[in-house]
Amino acid sequence: MSDTQSLQVFQPPADFVSQAAISGMEAYRALCAEAERDYAGYWARLAREHLSWKVPFTRTLDESQAPFFKWFDDGRLNVSYNCIDRNIEAGLGEKTAIIFESDDGTVSRVSYKDLLVRVSRFANALKASGVKKGDRVVIYLPMSVEGVVAMQACARIGATHSVVFGGFSAQSLRDRINDAGAVLLITSDGQCRGGKSLPLKPIADEALALGGCESIMKVVVWQRTGAECAMQAGRDVFWQDFVAGRADFCEPEWVEAEHPLFLLYTSGSTGKPKGVQHSTGGYLLHAVLTMKWTFDLKPNDVFWCTADIGWVTGHTYIAYGPLACGGTQIVFEGVPTFPDAGRFWKMIQEHKVSVFYTAPTAIRSLIKAAEATATVHPRNYDLSSLRLLGSVGEPINPAAWMWYYENIGGSRCPIVDTFWQTETGGHMITPLPGVTPLVPGSCTLPFPGIQAAIVDETGTELDWGKGGILVVKRPWPSMIRNIWGDAERFKKSYYPDDFNGQLYLAGDGATRDAQTGYFTITGRIDDVLNVSGHRMGTMEIESALVSHPLVAEAAVVGRPDDLTGEAICAFVVLKGIRPEGDAAKKMIKDLQDHVGKQIGPIAKPKDIRFGENLPKTRSGKIMRRLLRSLAKGEEVTQDTSTLENPAILDQLRRGV
Ligand code: PRX
Repeated sequence: MSDTQSLQVFQPPADFVSQAAISGMEAYRALCAEAERDYAGYWARLAREHLSWKVPFTRTLDESQAPFFKWFDDGRLNVSYNCIDRNIEAGLGEKTAIIFESDDGTVSRVSYKDLLVRVSRFANALKASGVKKGDRVVIYLPMSVEGVVAMQACARIGATHSVVFGGFSAQSLRDRINDAGAVLLITSDGQCRGGKSLPLKPIADEALALGGCESIMKVVVWQRTGAECAMQAGRDVFWQDFVAGRADFCEPEWVEAEHPLFLLYTSGSTGKPKGVQHSTGGYLLHAVLTMKWTFDLKPNDVFWCTADIGWVTGHTYIAYGPLACGGTQIVFEGVPTFPDAGRFWKMIQEHKVSVFYTAPTAIRSLIKAAEATATVHPRNYDLSSLRLLGSVGEPINPAAWMWYYENIGGSRCPIVDTFWQTETGGHMITPLPGVTPLVPGSCTLPFPGIQAAIVDETGTELDWGKGGILVVKRPWPSMIRNIWGDAERFKKSYYPDDFNGQLYLAGDGATRDAQTGYFTITGRIDDVLNVSGHRMGTMEIESALVSHPLVAEAAVVGRPDDLTGEAICAFVVLKGIRPEGDAAKKMIKDLQDHVGKQIGPIAKPKDIRFGENLPKTRSGKIMRRLLRSLAKGEEVTQDTSTLENPAILDQLRRGV
């Protein structure tokens, strides 16, 4: 099927509906109506039913400091207690919480009881080394049980964690440690991915040596690969020595519902990544509700979210959501293409995965692999354990949706295309599998209680059938609370004056179907790119490029890419002459490596073009729309009469 063929509607299968947590459209509408009638009462009811509180809250939503909203703020609870202890108290102590599969295929299991001991010992060690409630701890670890343990241990003692994706560079790690003012860093000697052993501690050492990380008192090093690594006396300690002799139980710190559970840095439209600050109570509520309603999680399910704990998806749908529901989940260290591109399908077969959640980029690359090599085609595997599929991170094109539906879901499993963001904490617009008729490529309807809408530039809500700017009309429990250390930027980014500070601006464009009101996300409306489901700011990449000694100026735009959704395309003006031929090729490689070093490999531009200048308006503004046309290889239809030097368009049109 091509992406432009007219789309079929897929009704929820009757046997799914009959057992689903939210069953049928009437049940969905009843929840929406309840929220409409009594917004605070609706969320209060859910927070009481789905979370365990040490001190029950009496206040639900405080809007007095809008847009700095507070939820359940006089209540106290602990996330780690909700994720571990309460499951043990409910008789699930022996149940497998985590099935860990390493890169080389070794499998280990962690029960809820084991998890309590591992988290408690690490939490006690953190306390003994002086980490207190509210201190920030940076976690720079590969996909591992230890990663989850470290996050849960921070939550247990009320320390605020900030996980930095293992693919980020020393400079990026340094900037995040510095911005958060972290007191402790947790890392590993290295990581195993795709049969290779890659260093991590040396990058952490480089980050700390860059300066600005003086707040770090201690570095805990988990030995994953066994690679030699330098240990600085007095500062660095191996994980096993850190936890040695620590007690098997740690009393949870009962924190206020608004206590910051974590910071997670994400790209915005200006150069500096922002530390998205999440709460304890509201965040956890949405993690639990979406696990139960979107993923319909049942006691016997084996849940697998393939994200990395370095992204928000790995926070909500690995470190917290599945555990808070007493689920069994897979944590996978490796990559989908090692030892071959049948790895995911083999793991689903072996572990009898029933709910599978991945990104469109992964699906598209596995389609390509299956078409090229018959032995890795999913038809070679028994995928009958699957009952529900999910997609996240970027728009899923209808052709990929159909392949996923037919080849992975056996035309039997609903697909939940979940639209959300680092800032939203959990799903915002998504099908519910026992409710929503599915249309490939559409994320369908808001999660019950979420009031999403499409508006024009003045903030006026548009009729269905029209495209515009995606907003959320009311605060919701799991929303971002602040940008760490930058309240002004928080207001400007998410509650801009253009909308009288009344609407949450997601930063995406969307359309609504004229008949069904279904939402379809059309992509970012700011200078943020989405490459393989990873958010990258164009200005961040531009700053990295101009930090190269030979670069005078750079402009970065996105262009559509069949595999990665969007690809990074950079237009560069060098100091000195414009290179050609082999010199240009070498320069491209140098610049790609430079960006990789500055930010991380995910930010390397796929396409770099050199010009003697960049196209600018008379007032000196770079004509980005024109660059986007050039990047796509389209005819330039914009007015170019104001260009100083139209010949540069020809230079920039040509790749090397
Ligand atoms: O553009 C939207 C896209 O990813 C952005 C959020 O990126 P991030 O904060 O890194 O979080 C990704 C994982 C939740 C959004 O602004 N996006 C996310 N999910 C979808 C999506 N676009 C279309 N469809 C989705 N299901």
